[in-house]
Order: sequence, then structure tokens, then C-alpha cells
Amino acid sequence: MNLLIMGKPGAGKGTQAKKILDHFSLTHISTGDIYRDEIKKGSEIGQEAKKYLDQGNLVPDKMTNDIVWEVLQKHEYPNGFMLDGFPRTIAQAEALDEMLNTLNIHLTAVINVDVDDDVISDRMAGRRVCSNCGETYHVEYHPPKKDGVCDVCGHSLIQRKDDLKESVLNRLQIYKNKTQPLLDYYENKDLLLVIDGENPSDQVFEDILIKLGELHD
Ligand code: AP5
Repeated sequence: MNLLIMGKPGAGKGTQAKKILDHFSLTHISTGDIYRDEIKKGSEIGQEAKKYLDQGNLVPDKMTNDIVWEVLQKHEYPNGFMLDGFPRTIAQAEALDEMLNTLNIHLTAVINVDVDDDVISDRMAGRRVCSNCGETYHVEYHPPKKDGVCDVCGHSLIQRKDDLKESVLNRLQIYKNKTQPLLDYYENKDLLLVIDGENPSDQVFEDILIKLGELHD
């Protein structure tokens, strides 16, 4: 099974991706995570990407396409993959089609986690991430056991720079201009599954499983 998960920034893509990956033993390919790792390592790619991430802007298509191609061509996804945060522009979607054609791989479905803008602002303002392992929390909806400390590795929780209000508004605007058109792109390919992302996250996950199950009915 090869899936793609889409949604506005903060819609809950990462939260659902984790549940889906565990359930189907898929390989996670998150361009956002790849860039944050590179920034943490201080690599050349990380230094270049940081300029865009901190402002909430998209990293240029060529750089992102090259990174995804590098990962996909290694074929390290025995049970399939879940692409998270890629593609984000029509040019990226077209590049992905070419990559998949070359590798003779097909997408099973594209999941769109659908959430209103006012819910997004609330989720981003309350999101905290572990500075060490990247585990995600929310101060109200998914708090850690001990305030400010990661349940998984015990390191401190931080707020992502791009979760600050100005950056969030910029990311939402970019989503509308560049990423939203992809919904039609995948609808026309009969791959799009729209999921109500405003429910509690376990309910959202259940709805995803139901919709994926319907594909095989
Ligand atoms: P990326 O990491 O992909 O960021 P994003 O799309 O903005 O998504 P987020 O990680 O912010 O949110 P999410 O939807 O995963 O939400 P989460 O599950 O954490 O990309 C970051 C940056 O990298 C981009 O801005 C860009 O610069 C660059 N980049 C990445 N890919 C690129 C590409 N293809 N091209 C160019 N540049 C690229 O949930 C959010 C919060 O809500 C959490 O606190 C969570 O606990 C809570 N929550 C989740 N679900 C629920 C629920 N159902 N109910 C209540 N709370 C919930």
C-alpha cells in the first residue's frame, strides 16, 4: 500500500501518519521531518532549508523533488510507504508521477485531512514537540504526563518556530495558493479520500481505516 497524506499545516497529518504507519507497517517519508533533521545536523541542505522553514515558506521544488527521489529510488519500503507533506505544488505532483512511473509504483490513495482555519490556529498555538525525538504533543488535546517533558525520551518540549502566529498565517496562505489545487489533481485521478479532521484523533484514524477498507470492498 502506497499512501499520500495531505492537509493544511497543523491539520493532523503527522498525528494520523504515525497511527497509519504503525497499523500497516509502512515506511514514513515526511519532507518536513527530513528538513528538520537536516537543520538539526547543520548540513548544507539544512542550512539552505532553514531560510524557508523559519518563515513558513516552501523550500524550492527542485531541492525537495531531488530529496524525495533519493529516498524513493532506494526501495527501502517493504510494505509500501506513506508520503507526508509531499507533494505540495502541482510541479511536485507532476515530478512525483514521473518518479513513480519510472519505478513502476502506483499510489493506492491520497488522504486529505480536512480541518477549518480557526481549528488550525488553535492546534498550532498549542503544539509542542520534543527537542530530541520529535514526538508531538498538544497542551490541551494531547498533553505530556509531566509539563514540558517528553514522555518518550525525557527531553524538553519546545514550540516550533514556524508555529508562531505570523508564520502560521503565511503557511495557510501558501497552502491555499499552492497546495489546495492538488485536491482537484488527485480527485481527477480518482485517488482522493476526504476525512473530517476536526474529530478527536482516534475517531479521525477510524474514519481513515473505514475509507481505506472501502477501497477493497
Ligand atoms: P511539515 O512538517 O510538512 O509541516 P506542515 O504541513 O505545516 O504540517 P505540520 O507538521 O505543521 O502539521 P501536521 O498536519 O503534521 O499536524 P500535527 O499532527 O503535528 O513542513 C514544514 C515545512 O517544511 C514547510 O513549511 C516547508 O517550509 C518545508 N517543506 C516540507 N515539505 C515540503 C515540500 N513538499 N515542499 C516545499 N517545502 C516543504 O498536529 C498539529 C497539532 O494538533 C498537534 O499539537 C497535535 O497534537 C494536535 N492534533 C492533531 N490531531 C488532532 C485532533 N484530531 N484533535 C485535536 N488535536 C489534534
